[in-house]
Amino acid sequence: MIWIFLGAPGAGKGTQAERLQGDFGFVQISTGELLREAMRAGTQLGKTVQEYVTRGELVPDDLVAAVLRERLAYGDMGNGVILDGFPRTVRQAEILEGILDKHCWKLCGVLYLEAAEEVVQERLGGRRNCPQCGANYHVVTLPPKVEGRCDRCGAELVIRPDDTPEAIRNRLEVYHRQTEPLVAFYDQRGMLERIDASGEVEQVYRSVKEAVSRRWRQCLADG
Ligand code: AP5
Repeated sequence: MIWIFLGAPGAGKGTQAERLQGDFGFVQISTGELLREAMRAGTQLGKTVQEYVTRGELVPDDLVAAVLRERLAYGDMGNGVILDGFPRTVRQAEILEGILDKHCWKLCGVLYLEAAEEVVQERLGGRRNCPQCGANYHVVTLPPKVEGRCDRCGAELVIRPDDTPEAIRNRLEVYHRQTEPLVAFYDQRGMLERIDASGEVEQVYRSVKEAVSRRWRQCLADG
C-alpha cells in the first residue's frame, strides 16, 4: 500500500511522515533525503543533482524516478510505503502509476498538507537539519535537547543549503508551477485528502492520523 505526502516546501511532509511511519509501521521514502545522502557521499548522482537541489530546482523526472525505483527495489515495504516528496510533476505521477501497476501496489491516499505561504517561509527559515541522520528540527517549534546537536546521533546541526532566502523563494515558485497541478490530478482520481497543516505539529498529526486510519480501512475493504 502506498501513501503520498503532497504539499509546499515546509508544509511539514517530512515531520508528519516520520510520525506516521513510527505509529503505523510504514516505511518513509523521501526523495529529497535520498538526493541529499548522495550529495553528502559525493557519488556521481550527488554531483549531478547538487546544483538543482541547491538552487531549489527540481531534479529531472527520469533521474529522480530512477532513484526512487532503486530505493523501492530494497523490498522493505513494512505495512505500507509513504512517498515523501514524490511525485512532484504530472510526469512523475504518470511514472508512478506505471510502477504501481507493474508491482500490483495500491495507492491508498494522497495527503495534501495545506499551509499559508508565510507559515511555510517561517518554518523553513528556522529549520535545522542533521547532516548525518537526516533528522529535522526547528529553532522555535522543535528545538533539539542540546542546542545545535542532533538528539538521535549527536552530530552538529546545519542549515540546509536550499533553506537560503533565495532558494526558498525559488522552491515555492517551482512548487506552484510544477507540483500544484497534482492537487487536481489526484482530486479527480478521488485520492486527495486535504489536511490543514497550519497548526502545531501534534494538531496536524491528529488530522493526518484520522485520514490515514479512515483511508486504510477503506483500502483494505476494497481489497
Ligand atoms: P525535499 O527534501 O523533499 O524538500 P521540500 O519538498 O522542499 O520539503 P521540505 O523538506 O523543505 O519540507 P517539508 O514539507 O518536509 O517540511 P518539514 O517537515 O521538514 O526536496 C529537496 C529538493 O530535492 C527539491 O527542492 C528538489 O531539488 C529535489 N527533489 C526532491 N524530490 C524530488 C522530486 N520528486 N523531483 C524532483 N526533484 C526532487 O518541516 C519544515 C520545518 O518546519 C522543520 O523545521 C519542522 O520542524 C517545522 N515544522 C513542521 N511542521 C510544523 C508545524 N506543524 N508547526 C511548526 N513547525 C513545524
